[in-house]
Amino acid sequence: MDSVERAVEVLRGGGLVAFPTETVYGLGADATSSEAVARLFTAKGRPADHPVIVHLADGADLDRWAERVTDVAQRLGRQFWPGPLTVIVPRREHRIVDAVTGGRATVAIRVPDHPVALELLRSFGGPVAAPSANRFGRVSPTTADDAVADLGDGLDAVLDGGPCAVGVESTIVDGTVDPPVVRRVGGVPLEEIETILGIDVAVDDRGGGAPGTLRSHYAPRASVVIAPLERVGALAERLLATGERVGVLGLAVTPPAGVVDLGVRGDVDEYARLLYTRLREADRRRLDTVIAVAPPASGRGAAVVDRLRRASASR
Ligand code: TXA
Ligand code: MG
Repeated sequence: MDSVERAVEVLRGGGLVAFPTETVYGLGADATSSEAVARLFTAKGRPADHPVIVHLADGADLDRWAERVTDVAQRLGRQFWPGPLTVIVPRREHRIVDAVTGGRATVAIRVPDHPVALELLRSFGGPVAAPSANRFGRVSPTTADDAVADLGDGLDAVLDGGPCAVGVESTIVDGTVDPPVVRRVGGVPLEEIETILGIDVAVDDRGGGAPGTLRSHYAPRASVVIAPLERVGALAERLLATGERVGVLGLAVTPPAGVVDLGVRGDVDEYARLLYTRLREADRRRLDTVIAVAPPASGRGAAVVDRLRRASASR
């Protein structure tokens, strides 16, 4: 693992840095360098037309990168930054390179709430383009080891900031449309966004070809089947009878005999925090099927339900 000084050197030289945020680990590159951003897409195995979030140390810098700081962006940024929120704003024709935005007239911006991320961003002093530090289509990493396991040789530096506290990606609000819409549910609950804006906000994650919105995204190798609590026993029995290795994931779920316990003790925030860790554990334990019991879809539970749905979509 490397120091922040080393990571800054790497960014300045056009290299790639895995770094912690409160949501998931990011794979960072200098957002003003076409070569660095091209390397980032190659390392991730990500299609070139899928835009990347730009990370800043301070929300007050938003007007340097946005053509117009919309009222929505201003209010949400003031309330939730640093934090698990991304806002899409009209892009300023400036130093952020085209590849970051997939050529769009908009740019997605976020100020992460993690001391190591903020130290990196402050010391670097510029915008850092960073998708989650996983191979395209895989589960996002929530520890430095997960990032290294996915991207290993593609990384020029790795910052270890411990396990991520939020565990699911940021909520993305599109402030370039009126009324604003949520493009991805995530760390900031929809209810809190509605409270701050004083309006009902729709979730519209269709279209745009945004990678986080592909149905089979966020999937482990194991099949994920969502089941109501009362069906877990019968379903597990049927799968076990066919010789499958089975695990059960959920809040306070007692696994039937012969089933691996991937359970979470606590509330929806704890479920969110541990979700990707549990899905990776399922692969490490070579499970064929994960039976997942969805949490209530309120607060951060909405993001858990969303990621479980995507993980369970047929591939
Ligand atoms: O929590 C997070 O947001 C993490 C950490 C590392 O900050 N990052 C993350 O990045 O999840 P990524 O690349 O895995 O997801 C970025 C999402 C994608 O769905 C992408 O399409 C959307 O942001 N996005 C980025 N720029 C956009 C733009 N200009 N317009 C619409 N969607 C955009
Ligand atoms: Mg991602």
